[in-house]
Amino acid sequence: MACCHADFAALEGSDRGFTLGMPTFTFGAGVLAEAGDSAAELGLRRVALFTDKRLAAGEHVAKVKQALAAAKVDCVVYDEVAIEPTDVSLQEATRFARDSNIDGYVSVGGGSVMDTCKAANLYATQPAEFMTYVNAPIGAGQRVPGALKPHIACPTTSGTGSETTGIAIFTLTSMNAKTGIISRRLIPTVALVDPDVTRTLPANVVAATGFDCMSHALESMTARPYPRRLNPAQGVRRPVSQGANPFSDTLATQALTSVGQYLVRAVDDASDSEARTEMMYAAMLAGIAFNAAGCHLPHGLSYAVSGLVKNFHVDGYPEGKTLVPHGMSVVLNNPSVWRHTAVALPQRHLRCAEALGAKAQGATPDDAGEVLAGRIVELMRATSMPNGIGALGFGEGEIDALATGAEPQYRVIKNAPIDVDRDVLRRLFRAALRYW
Ligand SMILES: NC(=O)c1ccc[n+]([C@@H]2O[C@H](COP(=O)([O-])OP(=O)(O)OC[C@H]3O[C@@H](n4cnc5c(N)ncnc54)[C@H](O)[C@@H]3O)[C@@H](O)[C@H]2O)c1
Ligand SMILES: [Fe+2]
Repeated sequence: MACCHADFAALEGSDRGFTLGMPTFTFGAGVLAEAGDSAAELGLRRVALFTDKRLAAGEHVAKVKQALAAAKVDCVVYDEVAIEPTDVSLQEATRFARDSNIDGYVSVGGGSVMDTCKAANLYATQPAEFMTYVNAPIGAGQRVPGALKPHIACPTTSGTGSETTGIAIFTLTSMNAKTGIISRRLIPTVALVDPDVTRTLPANVVAATGFDCMSHALESMTARPYPRRLNPAQGVRRPVSQGANPFSDTLATQALTSVGQYLVRAVDDASDSEARTEMMYAAMLAGIAFNAAGCHLPHGLSYAVSGLVKNFHVDGYPEGKTLVPHGMSVVLNNPSVWRHTAVALPQRHLRCAEALGAKAQGATPDDAGEVLAGRIVELMRATSMPNGIGALGFGEGEIDALATGAEPQYRVIKNAPIDVDRDVLRRLFRAALRYW
Protein backbone atom coordinates (compact mmCIF):
# COMPACT_ATOMS: atom_id res chain seq x y z
CA MET A 1 0.00 0.00 0.00
CA ALA A 2 1.25 3.48 -0.80
CA CYS A 3 0.97 5.34 2.45
CA CYS A 4 1.96 8.85 3.33
CA HIS A 5 3.16 7.84 6.74
CA ALA A 6 6.81 6.85 7.06
CA ASP A 7 5.95 4.34 9.79
CA PHE A 8 4.27 2.18 7.16
CA ALA A 9 6.98 2.31 4.49
CA ALA A 10 7.81 -1.20 3.24
CA LEU A 11 11.10 -2.70 4.38
CA GLU A 12 13.15 -5.51 2.86
CA GLY A 13 11.31 -8.77 3.72
CA SER A 14 8.41 -7.04 5.45
CA ASP A 15 4.75 -7.96 5.04
CA ARG A 16 3.14 -6.53 1.92
CA GLY A 17 -0.19 -5.55 3.49
CA PHE A 18 -2.51 -5.74 6.43
CA THR A 19 -5.83 -7.54 6.94
CA LEU A 20 -8.87 -6.27 8.79
CA GLY A 21 -11.43 -8.65 10.25
CA MET A 22 -14.62 -7.57 12.01
CA PRO A 23 -18.19 -8.71 12.46
CA THR A 24 -21.23 -7.19 10.81
CA PHE A 25 -22.15 -4.77 13.58
CA THR A 26 -25.23 -2.78 14.42
CA PHE A 27 -24.86 0.09 16.89
CA GLY A 28 -27.71 1.95 18.53
CA ALA A 29 -30.02 2.26 21.51
CA GLY A 30 -32.54 -0.57 21.50
CA VAL A 31 -30.81 -2.87 18.98
CA LEU A 32 -30.90 -5.83 21.40
CA ALA A 33 -34.49 -6.19 20.17
CA GLU A 34 -33.01 -7.24 16.81
CA ALA A 35 -31.39 -10.41 18.20
CA GLY A 36 -34.27 -12.64 17.05
CA ASP A 37 -34.36 -11.33 13.50
CA SER A 38 -30.57 -11.56 13.28
CA ALA A 39 -30.64 -15.19 14.41
CA ALA A 40 -33.44 -16.07 11.99
CA GLU A 41 -31.58 -14.32 9.16
CA LEU A 42 -28.58 -16.53 9.91
CA GLY A 43 -30.86 -19.57 9.60
CA LEU A 44 -30.68 -20.44 13.31
CA ARG A 45 -33.45 -22.48 14.91
CA ARG A 46 -31.98 -23.25 18.33
CA VAL A 47 -29.24 -21.24 20.02
CA ALA A 48 -27.28 -21.35 23.26
CA LEU A 49 -27.56 -18.03 25.08
CA PHE A 50 -24.43 -17.43 27.15
CA THR A 51 -24.51 -14.99 30.07
CA ASP A 52 -23.37 -14.69 33.69
CA LYS A 53 -25.41 -15.31 36.86
CA ARG A 54 -25.88 -11.64 37.64
CA LEU A 55 -27.10 -10.70 34.17
CA ALA A 56 -29.24 -13.83 33.72
CA ALA A 57 -32.03 -12.42 35.88
CA GLY A 58 -31.85 -8.92 34.44
CA GLU A 59 -33.55 -6.84 31.77
CA HIS A 60 -30.92 -7.18 28.99
CA VAL A 61 -31.09 -10.96 28.86
CA ALA A 62 -34.89 -10.78 29.10
CA LYS A 63 -34.97 -8.48 26.07
CA VAL A 64 -32.83 -10.84 24.00
CA LYS A 65 -34.86 -13.91 25.05
CA GLN A 66 -38.04 -12.09 24.09
CA ALA A 67 -36.62 -11.16 20.68
CA LEU A 68 -35.55 -14.77 20.04
CA ALA A 69 -38.97 -16.10 21.05
CA ALA A 70 -40.72 -13.59 18.78
CA ALA A 71 -38.60 -14.84 15.88
CA LYS A 72 -39.37 -18.47 16.84
CA VAL A 73 -35.74 -19.28 17.65
CA ASP A 74 -35.43 -21.76 20.54
CA CYS A 75 -32.93 -20.87 23.21
CA VAL A 76 -31.14 -22.73 25.99
CA VAL A 77 -29.45 -20.57 28.60
CA TYR A 78 -25.96 -21.11 30.02
CA ASP A 79 -25.42 -18.75 32.95
CA GLU A 80 -22.46 -20.44 34.63
CA VAL A 81 -19.88 -18.18 32.94
CA ALA A 82 -17.04 -17.31 35.34
CA ILE A 83 -16.17 -13.63 35.63
CA GLU A 84 -12.54 -13.65 34.44
CA PRO A 85 -12.81 -17.16 32.92
CA THR A 86 -10.35 -20.03 33.40
CA ASP A 87 -9.46 -23.11 31.36
CA VAL A 88 -11.72 -25.04 33.74
CA SER A 89 -14.73 -22.76 33.26
CA LEU A 90 -14.23 -22.74 29.46
CA GLN A 91 -14.23 -26.53 29.35
CA GLU A 92 -17.42 -26.68 31.43
CA ALA A 93 -19.04 -24.27 28.97
CA THR A 94 -17.83 -26.43 26.07
CA ARG A 95 -19.49 -29.51 27.57
CA PHE A 96 -22.77 -27.59 27.75
CA ALA A 97 -22.43 -26.47 24.12
CA ARG A 98 -21.64 -30.00 22.92
CA ASP A 99 -24.64 -31.49 24.68
CA SER A 100 -27.17 -28.84 23.66
CA ASN A 101 -27.93 -29.72 20.06
CA ILE A 102 -27.75 -26.13 18.88
CA ASP A 103 -26.94 -24.49 15.57
CA GLY A 104 -25.68 -21.13 16.85
CA TYR A 105 -24.72 -18.92 19.79
CA VAL A 106 -25.84 -15.68 21.37
CA SER A 107 -23.74 -14.03 24.10
CA VAL A 108 -25.12 -11.31 26.36
CA GLY A 109 -22.52 -9.95 28.75
CA GLY A 110 -19.09 -8.46 29.17
CA GLY A 111 -15.77 -9.82 27.94
CA SER A 112 -16.00 -12.79 30.32
CA VAL A 113 -19.26 -13.94 28.71
CA MET A 114 -18.36 -13.25 25.08
CA ASP A 115 -14.94 -14.94 25.43
CA THR A 116 -16.48 -18.00 27.08
CA CYS A 117 -18.99 -18.23 24.26
CA LYS A 118 -16.24 -18.01 21.63
CA ALA A 119 -14.25 -20.80 23.29
CA ALA A 120 -17.30 -23.05 23.72
CA ASN A 121 -18.20 -22.55 20.07
CA LEU A 122 -14.61 -23.32 19.05
CA TYR A 123 -14.17 -26.56 21.01
CA ALA A 124 -17.72 -27.80 20.34
CA THR A 125 -17.41 -27.13 16.58
CA GLN A 126 -13.73 -27.99 16.00
CA PRO A 127 -13.05 -30.47 18.84
CA ALA A 128 -9.45 -30.78 20.01
CA GLU A 129 -7.47 -31.26 23.18
CA PHE A 130 -7.75 -27.95 25.11
CA MET A 131 -4.15 -26.70 24.65
CA THR A 132 -4.25 -27.27 20.86
CA TYR A 133 -5.48 -23.78 19.96
CA VAL A 134 -4.06 -21.90 22.97
CA ASN A 135 -1.38 -19.34 22.04
CA ALA A 136 2.18 -20.63 21.82
CA PRO A 137 4.46 -20.96 23.69
CA ILE A 138 2.00 -21.74 26.50
CA GLY A 139 -0.19 -23.85 24.20
CA ALA A 140 0.41 -25.47 20.80
CA GLY A 141 -0.93 -22.40 18.93
CA GLN A 142 -2.41 -24.50 16.10
CA ARG A 143 -4.56 -22.79 13.50
CA VAL A 144 -8.31 -23.34 13.76
CA PRO A 145 -8.99 -25.65 10.78
CA GLY A 146 -12.50 -24.55 9.81
CA ALA A 147 -15.43 -22.24 10.38
CA LEU A 148 -17.31 -22.04 13.69
CA LYS A 149 -21.07 -21.80 14.16
CA PRO A 150 -22.69 -18.35 13.91
CA HIS A 151 -22.30 -16.19 17.03
CA ILE A 152 -24.32 -13.05 17.79
CA ALA A 153 -22.42 -11.05 20.42
CA CYS A 154 -24.27 -8.50 22.58
CA PRO A 155 -21.80 -6.64 24.82
CA THR A 156 -23.06 -5.27 28.14
CA THR A 157 -19.87 -3.49 29.24
CA SER A 158 -18.12 -0.61 27.51
CA GLY A 159 -14.52 -1.68 27.29
CA THR A 160 -13.30 -5.01 26.02
CA GLY A 161 -14.52 -4.71 22.43
CA SER A 162 -14.64 -8.53 22.50
CA GLU A 163 -17.76 -8.36 20.29
CA THR A 164 -15.40 -7.40 17.45
CA THR A 165 -12.30 -9.51 18.17
CA GLY A 166 -11.04 -12.96 17.32
CA ILE A 167 -9.65 -13.30 20.83
CA ALA A 168 -10.72 -15.29 23.88
CA ILE A 169 -8.78 -14.63 27.09
CA PHE A 170 -8.67 -16.88 30.16
CA THR A 171 -6.50 -17.78 33.14
CA LEU A 172 -4.64 -21.07 32.82
CA THR A 173 -5.01 -22.35 36.36
CA SER A 174 -1.94 -24.61 36.33
CA MET A 175 0.32 -21.59 35.62
CA ASN A 176 -1.85 -18.95 37.26
CA ALA A 177 -1.23 -16.93 34.07
CA LYS A 178 -3.59 -15.31 31.63
CA THR A 179 -3.33 -16.36 28.03
CA GLY A 180 -5.70 -16.72 25.13
CA ILE A 181 -6.79 -18.15 21.83
CA ILE A 182 -6.53 -15.96 18.77
CA SER A 183 -8.01 -16.67 15.37
CA ARG A 184 -10.03 -14.69 12.85
CA ARG A 185 -12.46 -17.64 13.02
CA LEU A 186 -13.39 -16.52 16.56
CA ILE A 187 -14.68 -13.13 15.43
CA PRO A 188 -18.43 -13.07 16.16
CA THR A 189 -20.62 -13.20 13.07
CA VAL A 190 -22.83 -10.33 14.21
CA ALA A 191 -22.39 -7.74 16.99
CA LEU A 192 -25.44 -5.97 18.40
CA VAL A 193 -23.99 -3.04 20.31
CA ASP A 194 -26.74 -1.43 22.36
CA PRO A 195 -25.57 1.46 24.58
CA ASP A 196 -28.81 1.22 26.61
CA VAL A 197 -27.24 -1.70 28.50
CA THR A 198 -24.74 0.64 30.17
CA ARG A 199 -27.47 2.26 32.31
CA THR A 200 -27.17 -0.62 34.79
CA LEU A 201 -23.37 -0.69 34.92
CA PRO A 202 -21.81 0.07 38.32
CA ALA A 203 -19.41 3.06 38.26
CA ASN A 204 -16.40 0.85 39.00
CA VAL A 205 -17.14 -1.34 36.00
CA VAL A 206 -17.51 1.73 33.75
CA ALA A 207 -14.14 3.01 35.00
CA ALA A 208 -12.24 -0.27 34.67
CA THR A 209 -13.68 -1.17 31.28
CA GLY A 210 -13.21 2.41 30.04
CA PHE A 211 -9.50 2.17 30.82
CA ASP A 212 -9.36 -1.20 29.06
CA CYS A 213 -10.76 0.56 25.98
CA MET A 214 -8.24 3.41 26.37
CA SER A 215 -5.34 1.00 26.61
CA HIS A 216 -6.51 -1.02 23.59
CA ALA A 217 -6.41 2.21 21.58
CA LEU A 218 -3.05 3.35 22.96
CA GLU A 219 -1.44 -0.04 22.42
CA SER A 220 -2.81 -0.19 18.85
CA MET A 221 -1.27 3.19 18.10
CA THR A 222 2.11 2.32 19.61
CA ALA A 223 2.47 -1.32 18.57
CA ARG A 224 5.38 -1.98 16.21
CA PRO A 225 4.02 -0.76 12.82
CA TYR A 226 3.09 -3.75 10.64
CA PRO A 227 6.05 -3.55 8.20
CA ARG A 228 8.38 -3.76 11.22
CA ARG A 229 6.61 -6.73 12.83
CA LEU A 230 9.00 -9.46 13.98
CA ASN A 231 6.91 -12.22 12.34
CA PRO A 232 6.43 -11.17 8.69
CA ALA A 233 4.15 -14.11 7.71
CA GLN A 234 1.72 -13.15 4.95
CA GLY A 235 -1.63 -14.20 3.51
CA VAL A 236 -3.73 -16.59 5.60
CA ARG A 237 -0.80 -17.00 8.00
CA ARG A 238 -0.58 -13.26 8.67
CA PRO A 239 -1.10 -12.92 12.43
CA VAL A 240 -4.37 -11.38 13.63
CA SER A 241 -2.32 -8.93 15.70
CA GLN A 242 -0.21 -7.61 12.85
CA GLY A 243 1.03 -4.26 14.17
CA ALA A 244 -0.07 -0.64 13.90
CA ASN A 245 -1.67 0.11 10.53
CA PRO A 246 -3.49 3.09 9.02
CA PHE A 247 -6.97 1.67 9.63
CA SER A 248 -6.50 0.89 13.31
CA ASP A 249 -4.80 4.29 13.76
CA THR A 250 -7.96 6.06 12.63
CA LEU A 251 -10.27 4.09 14.90
CA ALA A 252 -7.91 4.22 17.87
CA THR A 253 -7.50 8.00 17.61
CA GLN A 254 -11.27 8.45 17.58
CA ALA A 255 -11.63 6.13 20.58
CA LEU A 256 -9.01 8.12 22.53
CA THR A 257 -10.79 11.39 21.79
CA SER A 258 -14.01 9.92 23.22
CA VAL A 259 -12.26 8.53 26.32
CA GLY A 260 -10.70 11.95 26.96
CA GLN A 261 -14.08 13.67 26.66
CA TYR A 262 -16.51 11.20 28.18
CA LEU A 263 -14.90 8.66 30.53
CA VAL A 264 -15.10 10.76 33.70
CA ARG A 265 -18.68 11.81 32.96
CA ALA A 266 -19.71 8.22 32.23
CA VAL A 267 -18.23 7.04 35.55
CA ASP A 268 -19.73 9.89 37.59
CA ASP A 269 -23.29 9.74 36.36
CA ALA A 270 -25.21 6.62 35.30
CA SER A 271 -27.92 8.84 33.83
CA ASP A 272 -25.49 10.62 31.47
CA SER A 273 -26.58 8.63 28.45
CA GLU A 274 -24.52 10.74 26.04
CA ALA A 275 -21.29 9.90 27.87
CA ARG A 276 -22.16 6.23 28.35
CA THR A 277 -23.16 5.89 24.69
CA GLU A 278 -19.92 7.47 23.52
CA MET A 279 -17.91 5.10 25.72
CA MET A 280 -19.78 2.10 24.27
CA TYR A 281 -18.96 3.28 20.76
CA ALA A 282 -15.32 3.98 21.68
CA ALA A 283 -14.97 0.47 23.11
CA MET A 284 -16.20 -1.05 19.86
CA LEU A 285 -13.84 1.09 17.75
CA ALA A 286 -10.88 0.28 19.98
CA GLY A 287 -11.79 -3.43 19.77
CA ILE A 288 -11.62 -3.40 15.98
CA ALA A 289 -8.35 -1.45 16.19
CA PHE A 290 -6.50 -3.65 18.68
CA ASN A 291 -7.75 -6.87 17.14
CA ALA A 292 -5.92 -5.82 13.96
CA ALA A 293 -2.91 -4.10 15.55
CA GLY A 294 -2.32 -6.09 18.74
CA CYS A 295 -1.75 -5.20 22.35
CA HIS A 296 1.65 -5.08 23.97
CA LEU A 297 3.24 -4.06 27.28
CA PRO A 298 0.32 -2.74 29.39
CA HIS A 299 -1.67 -5.92 28.72
CA GLY A 300 1.38 -8.19 29.03
CA LEU A 301 2.24 -6.66 32.42
CA SER A 302 -1.37 -6.66 33.61
CA TYR A 303 -1.56 -10.44 33.38
CA ALA A 304 1.18 -10.78 36.00
CA VAL A 305 -0.57 -8.25 38.25
CA SER A 306 -3.94 -10.03 38.07
CA GLY A 307 -2.30 -13.45 38.51
CA LEU A 308 -0.28 -12.53 41.63
CA VAL A 309 -2.60 -10.18 43.52
CA LYS A 310 -3.85 -11.32 46.93
CA ASN A 311 -6.90 -10.26 48.94
CA PHE A 312 -8.23 -7.61 46.62
CA HIS A 313 -11.82 -6.87 45.73
CA VAL A 314 -13.71 -4.06 44.01
CA ASP A 315 -17.43 -3.28 44.39
CA GLY A 316 -19.47 -4.20 41.33
CA TYR A 317 -17.56 -7.46 40.81
CA PRO A 318 -18.47 -10.88 42.25
CA GLU A 319 -17.95 -11.18 46.01
CA GLY A 320 -15.86 -13.84 47.66
CA LYS A 321 -12.95 -14.06 45.26
CA THR A 322 -9.79 -12.04 44.83
CA LEU A 323 -10.08 -10.22 41.55
CA VAL A 324 -8.50 -7.14 40.00
CA PRO A 325 -10.80 -5.98 37.19
CA HIS A 326 -8.99 -6.48 33.89
CA GLY A 327 -9.08 -2.79 32.90
CA MET A 328 -7.77 -1.74 36.31
CA SER A 329 -4.79 -4.10 36.11
CA VAL A 330 -4.07 -2.68 32.64
CA VAL A 331 -4.26 1.03 33.47
CA LEU A 332 -2.06 0.71 36.56
CA ASN A 333 0.88 -0.09 34.27
CA ASN A 334 0.07 2.54 31.67
CA PRO A 335 1.96 5.65 32.83
CA SER A 336 5.07 3.60 33.58
CA VAL A 337 5.03 1.97 30.13
CA TRP A 338 4.51 5.20 28.15
CA ARG A 339 7.32 6.98 29.98
CA HIS A 340 9.56 4.13 28.80
CA THR A 341 8.36 3.53 25.23
CA ALA A 342 7.83 7.13 24.04
CA VAL A 343 11.43 7.37 22.91
CA ALA A 344 10.73 4.77 20.19
CA LEU A 345 7.74 6.50 18.58
CA PRO A 346 7.53 9.99 20.14
CA GLN A 347 5.16 11.49 17.55
CA ARG A 348 2.67 8.67 18.01
CA HIS A 349 2.78 9.03 21.80
CA LEU A 350 2.19 12.79 21.44
CA ARG A 351 -0.70 12.20 19.04
CA CYS A 352 -2.27 9.86 21.62
CA ALA A 353 -1.82 12.42 24.40
CA GLU A 354 -3.46 15.12 22.30
CA ALA A 355 -6.38 12.86 21.39
CA LEU A 356 -6.89 12.11 25.09
CA GLY A 357 -7.10 15.84 25.76
CA ALA A 358 -3.64 16.54 27.20
CA LYS A 359 -2.34 20.06 27.11
CA ALA A 360 0.42 19.30 24.63
CA GLN A 361 0.96 22.75 23.14
CA GLY A 362 4.66 23.39 22.70
CA ALA A 363 5.54 19.81 23.73
CA THR A 364 8.59 18.38 21.99
CA PRO A 365 9.18 14.70 21.15
CA ASP A 366 11.29 14.48 24.32
CA ASP A 367 8.22 15.36 26.39
CA ALA A 368 5.94 12.77 24.75
CA GLY A 369 6.07 10.07 27.46
CA GLU A 370 5.58 12.51 30.30
CA VAL A 371 2.69 14.36 28.62
CA LEU A 372 0.84 11.11 27.88
CA ALA A 373 1.53 9.60 31.32
CA GLY A 374 0.46 12.86 33.01
CA ARG A 375 -2.90 12.89 31.23
CA ILE A 376 -3.57 9.25 32.16
CA VAL A 377 -2.72 9.95 35.81
CA GLU A 378 -5.25 12.83 35.70
CA LEU A 379 -7.93 10.45 34.40
CA MET A 380 -7.01 7.78 36.97
CA ARG A 381 -7.34 10.26 39.83
CA ALA A 382 -10.63 11.61 38.49
CA THR A 383 -12.10 8.07 38.45
CA SER A 384 -10.71 6.90 41.83
CA MET A 385 -8.30 4.32 40.44
CA PRO A 386 -5.73 2.91 42.89
CA ASN A 387 -2.46 4.82 43.10
CA GLY A 388 -0.28 2.31 41.24
CA ILE A 389 0.21 -1.40 41.83
CA GLY A 390 1.51 -0.58 45.32
CA ALA A 391 -2.10 0.10 46.31
CA LEU A 392 -2.91 -3.53 45.39
CA GLY A 393 -0.36 -4.75 47.94
CA PHE A 394 2.72 -5.08 45.73
CA GLY A 395 6.08 -3.73 46.90
CA GLU A 396 9.77 -3.94 46.07
CA GLY A 397 9.74 -7.55 47.35
CA GLU A 398 7.37 -8.67 44.59
CA ILE A 399 9.12 -7.02 41.64
CA ASP A 400 11.03 -10.18 40.65
CA ALA A 401 7.90 -12.33 40.84
CA LEU A 402 5.99 -9.84 38.70
CA ALA A 403 8.75 -9.78 36.08
CA THR A 404 8.79 -13.59 36.01
CA GLY A 405 4.99 -13.62 35.80
CA ALA A 406 5.06 -11.33 32.75
CA GLU A 407 7.58 -13.46 30.83
CA PRO A 408 5.03 -15.97 29.45
CA GLN A 409 3.45 -12.91 27.86
CA TYR A 410 6.25 -12.40 25.33
CA ARG A 411 3.70 -13.08 22.57
CA VAL A 412 2.17 -9.67 23.26
CA ILE A 413 5.24 -8.01 24.71
CA LYS A 414 7.15 -8.44 21.45
CA ASN A 415 4.64 -6.14 19.74
CA ALA A 416 6.04 -3.29 21.84
CA PRO A 417 7.92 -0.64 19.87
CA ILE A 418 11.13 -1.38 21.83
CA ASP A 419 12.91 -4.56 22.89
CA VAL A 420 12.13 -5.70 26.40
CA ASP A 421 14.04 -8.08 28.66
CA ARG A 422 13.56 -9.09 32.26
CA ASP A 423 15.53 -6.09 33.50
CA VAL A 424 13.21 -3.73 31.65
CA LEU A 425 10.18 -5.58 33.04
CA ARG A 426 11.53 -5.04 36.57
CA ARG A 427 12.02 -1.34 35.89
CA LEU A 428 8.50 -0.98 34.48
CA PHE A 429 6.87 -2.65 37.49
CA ARG A 430 9.01 -0.61 39.91
CA ALA A 431 7.94 2.62 38.22
CA ALA A 432 4.28 1.50 38.41
CA LEU A 433 4.29 1.06 42.22
CA ARG A 434 3.07 4.60 42.92
CA TYR A 435 2.19 7.61 40.76
CA TRP A 436 1.13 10.42 43.11
N1 LIG B 1 -11.58 -11.03 23.87
C1 LIG B 1 -11.12 -9.81 23.92
O1 LIG B 1 -10.88 -9.21 22.88
C2 LIG B 1 -10.92 -9.16 25.24
C3 LIG B 1 -10.45 -7.86 25.33
C4 LIG B 1 -10.28 -7.29 26.57
C5 LIG B 1 -10.57 -8.01 27.72
N2 LIG B 1 -11.01 -9.29 27.63
C6 LIG B 1 -11.35 -10.10 28.80
O2 LIG B 1 -12.68 -9.76 29.20
C7 LIG B 1 -12.82 -10.01 30.61
C8 LIG B 1 -13.37 -8.78 31.30
O3 LIG B 1 -14.60 -8.43 30.74
P1 LIG B 1 -15.39 -7.08 31.17
O4 LIG B 1 -14.41 -6.08 31.63
O5 LIG B 1 -16.30 -6.74 30.09
O6 LIG B 1 -16.22 -7.51 32.46
P2 LIG B 1 -16.89 -8.87 32.90
O7 LIG B 1 -17.56 -9.56 31.78
O8 LIG B 1 -15.86 -9.65 33.66
O9 LIG B 1 -18.01 -8.33 33.92
C9 LIG B 1 -17.65 -7.55 35.07
C10 LIG B 1 -18.84 -7.42 36.01
O10 LIG B 1 -19.82 -6.54 35.44
C11 LIG B 1 -21.11 -7.15 35.47
N3 LIG B 1 -21.88 -6.59 34.34
C12 LIG B 1 -21.65 -6.75 33.02
N4 LIG B 1 -22.51 -6.01 32.30
C13 LIG B 1 -23.34 -5.39 33.17
C14 LIG B 1 -24.44 -4.49 33.02
N5 LIG B 1 -24.83 -4.02 31.84
N6 LIG B 1 -25.05 -4.06 34.15
C15 LIG B 1 -24.62 -4.47 35.38
N7 LIG B 1 -23.58 -5.29 35.58
C16 LIG B 1 -22.95 -5.75 34.48
C17 LIG B 1 -20.83 -8.63 35.39
O11 LIG B 1 -21.92 -9.38 35.87
C18 LIG B 1 -19.57 -8.74 36.24
O12 LIG B 1 -19.89 -8.83 37.62
C19 LIG B 1 -11.44 -10.39 31.11
O13 LIG B 1 -11.33 -11.79 31.21
C20 LIG B 1 -10.51 -9.86 30.03
O14 LIG B 1 -9.27 -10.52 29.99
C21 LIG B 1 -11.20 -9.86 26.40
FE1 LIG C 1 -8.03 -5.57 27.45
